Amino acid sequence: MRGLLDLPEIHLPVAKLLEGQLEQVSLIFERQLASDLTAVNTLCMHIEQYRGKMLRPTLVLLAGLAAGGKVPDVRCQASDVVSDAYRMTPGASSLTDNHRIVAAVTEMIHMATLVHDDVLDEADVRRSGATVNHLWGNETAVMLGDYLISNAFHLCSTMGDPAINLALGEVTNTLCEGELIQLHHRDDFSIDEETYFEIIRRKTASLIGECCRLGASLSGADEPVEEALKSFGMSLGIAFQIQDDLLDLIGDDRVVGKSLGKDLAKGKLTLPITQYMASADPSERDEALGLLAQRPPNAVQQLRGRLIESGAVDRTRRTAERIVAEAKAKLAQVPPGAATALLHTLADGVVQRTW
Ligand code: FPP
Ligand code: MG
Repeated sequence: MRGLLDLPEIHLPVAKLLEGQLEQVSLIFERQLASDLTAVNTLCMHIEQYRGKMLRPTLVLLAGLAAGGKVPDVRCQASDVVSDAYRMTPGASSLTDNHRIVAAVTEMIHMATLVHDDVLDEADVRRSGATVNHLWGNETAVMLGDYLISNAFHLCSTMGDPAINLALGEVTNTLCEGELIQLHHRDDFSIDEETYFEIIRRKTASLIGECCRLGASLSGADEPVEEALKSFGMSLGIAFQIQDDLLDLIGDDRVVGKSLGKDLAKGKLTLPITQYMASADPSERDEALGLLAQRPPNAVQQLRGRLIESGAVDRTRRTAERIVAEAKAKLAQVPPGAATALLHTLADGVVQRTW
């Protein structure tokens, strides 16, 4: 998997800074979840492997650096979860303890949703390892997801800033709503694009947008900069989920590292399918509907060929690329600099990834 230090040389100074910051975020994360019960620690150690890309913490920190400059004097009440030594680290001055705590909180919320999502999707593999539900069953996975979400808000509360709790509480409500409307439209073969975008805006983009907004806000950014970064994150999140949905249909499971074909198996119709249906002739549409409704064992393979040949895959890619371009355009409102430049590159990476 591509790490921050594999980025083009121009990004290395800020990527190195981020690597150090992310190590601190991981420490905060681990300390928060540590229990006096071995059984709980075993489960928490297992989900350490889920922390692959750390996209959400990275965005909190990068947005914080990009917005930078006016850093408010934020006093952290949670000194036990942040290393004293790190506060002295040169170069990280525009990032505060609260940036790192918020970064850990967003990752914990994300982990909770993934553990629950794998129950809903009956997925066996995530980040190339066995899922919690596969190894320990659904009851354990539901409870572990609850433990993670509860700890996320416990950790968040240590900052003593109700506005952050409120903002992340709202976002978590939105994530659940996204998942609930997705379930409501299960096996809805006439789902329209507007509904698809509503689902992914809520279930994925809302958290990513809030990561960027909070990072900027904690750096004391002006409102236009905060809003531009939120809007950047929302668009990035939408493009990210479109690419995720594309990979679920046409990806290589050894590269992606998770159970693929799950959207179809669970009756979730995503953008490549709706784009195919919109342009297919009536007989093609009827055949595709048959595959979607009956779901024979080779349904994904059969649909994959049709999606590629019809150009629906290319159209979906172009849609994601257009949304990434919109995301990058929002960065014009953000002070230029090394962190803003890295946000541009990360945005391109979202649609170029094969994992
Ligand atoms: C991944 O979708 C799932 C999400 C982005 C959101 C999941 C949200 C919930 C389960 C509800 C909220 C839960 C809690 C604990 C607050 P996907 O299946 O398309 O992605 P995948 O390919 O990574 O599985
Ligand atoms: Mg899933």
